[in-house]
Amino acid sequence: MDTHTPYRYEQLADLIVGMIDNGALAPGMRLPSVRAVSEQHRISISTALQAYRLLEDRGILVARPQSGFYVAVARRGMLALPSTSRARARASTVSISGAVATLLEHASNSALVPLGCAVPDGGVLQSKRLDLALARAARQHGARYNVYCPPHGEPRLRQEIARRAMRFGHALSPDDVLITNGCTEALTLALTAVASRGDTIAVESPTYFGLLHTLEMLGLKAFELPTDPARGIDIGALARLLATETVAACVLSSNFSNPLGSTMAEADKRALLALLARHAVPLIEDDVYGDIHFGRERPKPFIALGDGANTIYCSSFSKSLAPGYRIGWIAAGAYTQQVMERKLAFSLCSPVLPQVALADFLASGAYDAHLRRIRHLFEENLARMTRAIEASFPADTKVSRPAGGFMLWLELPRRFDSRALFDEALEQGICFAPGDVFSASRRFRNCLRLSAGYEWNDRIKNGIQRLGQLARALLSH
Ligand SMILES: Cc1ncc(COP(=O)(O)O)c(C=O)c1O
Repeated sequence: MDTHTPYRYEQLADLIVGMIDNGALAPGMRLPSVRAVSEQHRISISTALQAYRLLEDRGILVARPQSGFYVAVARRGMLALPSTSRARARASTVSISGAVATLLEHASNSALVPLGCAVPDGGVLQSKRLDLALARAARQHGARYNVYCPPHGEPRLRQEIARRAMRFGHALSPDDVLITNGCTEALTLALTAVASRGDTIAVESPTYFGLLHTLEMLGLKAFELPTDPARGIDIGALARLLATETVAACVLSSNFSNPLGSTMAEADKRALLALLARHAVPLIEDDVYGDIHFGRERPKPFIALGDGANTIYCSSFSKSLAPGYRIGWIAAGAYTQQVMERKLAFSLCSPVLPQVALADFLASGAYDAHLRRIRHLFEENLARMTRAIEASFPADTKVSRPAGGFMLWLELPRRFDSRALFDEALEQGICFAPGDVFSASRRFRNCLRLSAGYEWNDRIKNGIQRLGQLARALLSH
């Protein structure tokens, strides 16, 4: 297919977007006249005008008659939001493992531009202080920690986690917390505690493919709930489902879902808890992105909004601090005993040294300063990525506008095939996540997820620009 090198006017347009990104051109600022730019860049006046018009079409510049072109003031959020997903009539058996394995293999290939992997880069996470705590614990008390700990995990870590839960308004005791191998194990423990093979689990749509993979491995079916990219699941659709079907559990993101970035309003979360309570359906919530909020307040998870009786809270430090430490946790409320038995059966306990190091790190207070830094960085990354998408993807691309996390969800016209884009992009050394891996029924083929978990640089920016060009070329066929 045609993968043209950018035209001169596209190059100039990219240059201008770059100057807006790095602050050299501020919102409201007037750009040099078309004549001046054409002289500066040794291009024709019509080429310079074409670049300005392209950016005007994308809402990045505004033209004022008799005055020239200006950097638009209200830029972010210019592209429309993706549509709310549609309801499905029945639950789907899940068969996603092959696609997930392939994606993960590519996503971990460091030779590719890393837009596919929902994990922050080690350079961004700057885990040196945590690593030093690990080295210190190993040096000073290595033998003491080379043991099995109780199945619930290191008491000091559980205490630190319980203490942090106070910040989102929920009183947890260390006894309520069980340490897991990442949020992945927490979700598996929760699902096996409340559901059996063949049961139906209600999930967001699109949803995190790792959850779908777990459902497949446990022989559970997924009922995909319509989900709005800003407000989260449609409670009315869940009410209709519960009125007619038996649902063993509902698994939802607490905040900043993957891939949509949606967060339910507090009132909606309360209404959802009341609905589930009426039907005695347990809620399993996944709050891995909760600490990465851009607003002043951390949105409350479900467990902090109801009596918590039928809610199982799962989270981890993988997205905000240390994916490689594999430390997550679960607060299973009424299911604590069942979860503990399963933890013993699956892995006895989690490795001790990383737990000790993390407890020391949390107790030092360093986590909060770290969170402030990465929240700011991810928010900036998402704004830059949104601008790069505006500048290079087809004009009718829709893009999510999350208030936390580090992912964007893009929706292109229905006939667009993100699998074809995926193949082309791999050939050009770029990885992203195609939309269909986020659905049990393999919907969202016209969508894709981009991750902004890396330090922003030209490689990333050019990767997005290239993806946009490829997408435009695919659509023009
Ligand atoms: C929503 C969600 N839950 C859980 C996980 C996995 O977390 P962990 O690495 O802690 O197992 C991910 C990772 O991508 C995720 O996006």
